[in-house]
Amino acid sequence: MATAGVPQRFCRCACFCSENLYVARYGLHVRFRGEQQLRTDYGPILRSRGCVTPKDFQQLLEEFPHLYNGLEGMRGPVLVTRPCATPAGAGGGAAEAPRAGVGYQEGPHRQLLSARHGLNSTAHCRYPAGAGYREEEASRLGRLPAPQRVCVLPQDVALAPEFLAAAEYSALPGADLKGLLQRLETVSEEKRIYRLPVFTAPFCQALLEELEHFEQSDMPKGRPNTMNNYGVLLHELGLDEPLVTPLRERFLQPLMALLYPDCGGGWLDSHRAFVVKYAPGQDRELGCHYDNAELTINVSLGKAFTGGALYFGDLFQAPSALATPLEVEHVVGQGVLHRGGQLHGARPLGTGERWNLIVWLRASAVRNRLCPMCCRKPDLVDDEGFGDGFTREEPTTVDVCTMT
Ligand SMILES: [Fe+2]
Repeated sequence: MATAGVPQRFCRCACFCSENLYVARYGLHVRFRGEQQLRTDYGPILRSRGCVTPKDFQQLLEEFPHLYNGLEGMRGPVLVTRPCATPAGAGGGAAEAPRAGVGYQEGPHRQLLSARHGLNSTAHCRYPAGAGYREEEASRLGRLPAPQRVCVLPQDVALAPEFLAAAEYSALPGADLKGLLQRLETVSEEKRIYRLPVFTAPFCQALLEELEHFEQSDMPKGRPNTMNNYGVLLHELGLDEPLVTPLRERFLQPLMALLYPDCGGGWLDSHRAFVVKYAPGQDRELGCHYDNAELTINVSLGKAFTGGALYFGDLFQAPSALATPLEVEHVVGQGVLHRGGQLHGARPLGTGERWNLIVWLRASAVRNRLCPMCCRKPDLVDDEGFGDGFTREEPTTVDVCTMT
């Protein structure tokens, strides 16, 4: 199923002001109503993590106005107070972090998207007036800034043949789950975790170059979420519309509809996409959490690295302290598909740099009924863009078989 017709007005749930606030110093997500509530609900775990003295607690309290402000415009998963059965301890959510509000649009990599497969085929290297960092740099430097090599890559080399085959099969009228499972790797049948090649090596390389170029620019940048301090939001790169939206609508949706029909896989109507970076001296690992998404795809972009494996526990709604986490190694170019509610994290990076593209896929038809962050009927607040994927009305849907 797919949204049709009139553009949706998306919202967030008002719980973003008080739920799932991430306290990086103690690696903990908390609900905050006030000092006494904080002491009552989190006193023991805070003490176990080093928040011991009155001064420690006062410093923690002083962070909350900052956390409130920081969450403005962003939002993520909710607190998980039970352990994920991993050394990382209690899991929480990778909330969305403050936004810089500046991006560049329609970067050169858009031409990597295949016109043959219906992705955006607009002429490359267009930079709309007043948009982004490339334009500003071009103005400052008197030339278009590097890198430019992505501009010369053929348009049909971005998506891996295996990904195209799986998506195209899934969109066929007679496609079924059994047939799709023959076209991808089942990492865990029980946890319903799958993996398949998504991007080609040239595309990963080109995207990494673009990401690094953006990272090295002096443009203001937002963090990908409150758990990751290093990375890039795809809409800041201008890649949301030309890359992620067609990826979701034309390729992931039919595939997810077969894999996860009960999780909104056939009703995806928005997303949040970001790249996370792990490197020595920066973020090295990620604590156990679940995503503010019905479904997630996590694609390894490179570079060369050791360690950093993903681990998966139970669904957050039914965590088991005794469960042994499932470890999943990264394979560059390949994407891991999982339910957003599946508890997961990332082991410490060994050596090198690791970059991953993560797309939180959202289905308003599912989340409108229950906010996955506060586990209540969402208290809707109008928002820009995709917001947190909620809508005030159920989306109009059409049969996926009518998609082209
Ligand atoms: Fe995650």
